[in-house]
Amino acid sequence: MRWSKILLSIACSFTMTISVADAHRNVELLVSSCAACHGTQGHSVGGTPRLAGLDSLHFIEQMRQFTSEERPSTVMHHHATGYTEEEIKLMAEFFSKQ
Ligand code: HEC
Repeated sequence: MRWSKILLSIACSFTMTISVADAHRNVELLVSSCAACHGTQGHSVGGTPRLAGLDSLHFIEQMRQFTSEERPSTVMHHHATGYTEEEIKLMAEFFSKQ
């Protein structure tokens, strides 16, 4: 039990250090933090906007506006900050294909 936790945390920190070369695998990790509210692969249930099938340009623009606070938000300002442009593009591509 304890060992599996240790192995898991090693695996996680390893994944974090993988660079842009492995970006496509990393996108799974990036979008996993959105699933709590936006559902698995962006298929939201409940009141949260659906991300699955969202136009990638629309996605990028919304993320930019949340970050700059041009678009008022309850939680998305917090969730949109801290990503690189590259990561936002990867997520945009990912969700547009769902
Ligand atoms: C704590 C819940 C929560 C999490 C986690 C979350 N979101 Fe959101 N998201 C929302 C809510 C609520 C809105 C509606 C705007 C608002 O009130 O902030 C929203 C709106 C959006 C929109 C705008 C959709 C549209 O069509 O206008 C995008 C894009 C988005 N989120 C992307 C993401 C991404 C990408 C992640 C993960 C990095 C994420 N969200 C994580 C709750 C969340």
